[in-house]
Amino acid sequence: MEVKQILHMNKGDDETSYAKNSKIQETVLKILGSDLVPKQSFGIADLGCSSGPNSLLLISEVMDVIHAEYSRLSQPSLQLQSSTREFRVYLNDLFSNDFNTIFVSLPEFYDKFKQDFKDTTTSEGPDLFISAVPGSFYGRLFPNKSLHFVHSSSSLHWLSQVPPGLDTALNKGKIYISKSSPECVKEAYSQQFHKDFSVFLKSRAEEIVSGGRMVLSFMGRRLSDPTIEESCYLQWELLANALMTLVLEVTSYYRHQYPPLEPDMCSVLR
Ligand SMILES: C[S@@+](CC[C@H](N)C(=O)[O-])C[C@H]1O[C@@H](n2cnc3c(N)ncnc32)[C@H](O)[C@@H]1O
Repeated sequence: MEVKQILHMNKGDDETSYAKNSKIQETVLKILGSDLVPKQSFGIADLGCSSGPNSLLLISEVMDVIHAEYSRLSQPSLQLQSSTREFRVYLNDLFSNDFNTIFVSLPEFYDKFKQDFKDTTTSEGPDLFISAVPGSFYGRLFPNKSLHFVHSSSSLHWLSQVPPGLDTALNKGKIYISKSSPECVKEAYSQQFHKDFSVFLKSRAEEIVSGGRMVLSFMGRRLSDPTIEESCYLQWELLANALMTLVLEVTSYYRHQYPPLEPDMCSVLR
């Protein structure tokens, strides 16, 4: 399927329209657009890009913002010229991600980029290099100080692993934190998030240039109790029940997801 068929928003302004459902994207774009200084070589990474329509959607939006900002900077009255000669776009996900599906959509994406960024007088424009970077974002993925903007959506609540030390005797018949789970199960998940998020931030600190930007959006929770519906408790409880009905005993399956609480986040950021 062609990119132009994939990349579209729901039109209009009803409840399901993009206009009413793009608050996160709006924030991303505001953060990116503010104070955008042209760089010779501009590095952008999308972490946990997956392989559906959203993989190129975000990058497309980012390029639109950069283009709008550069057009503004290039106006004679502002006496500034965009000096970016190349954009490097890195799409990251785990090794088993279906990157091929993204690759077949790229030719149209490159065409649109060339059209948008072409200088109308010289017909020249910056180059765009898109590459896949398979691997876990819980660790280094990119060379030192090579990125100017990092984005990740709906991915960081996935932990790098099931917290160690959880065995079925502790959490009988469950696959996640449950109402019947002892406190140590909740603590194990919280600690794993703490460890993973610290590694994530340390890795990005090495990779992002001074003054670079990062926007992360992922599932969190407002209340301390992780076994309420808001924390997706119900779906894991139902899945655990279904598994128990099918196999009588769940011996080795645990979710490796954790929607953090604000203090979980703050303690890592500090
Ligand atoms: C729900 S999808 C989000 C896709 C897309 N970013 C979006 O907003 O629609 C979560 C993605 O994160 C990826 N992911 C989970 N853990 C990861 C890790 N440690 N490193 C890289 N990608 C990861 C998954 O493989 C999955 O493709």
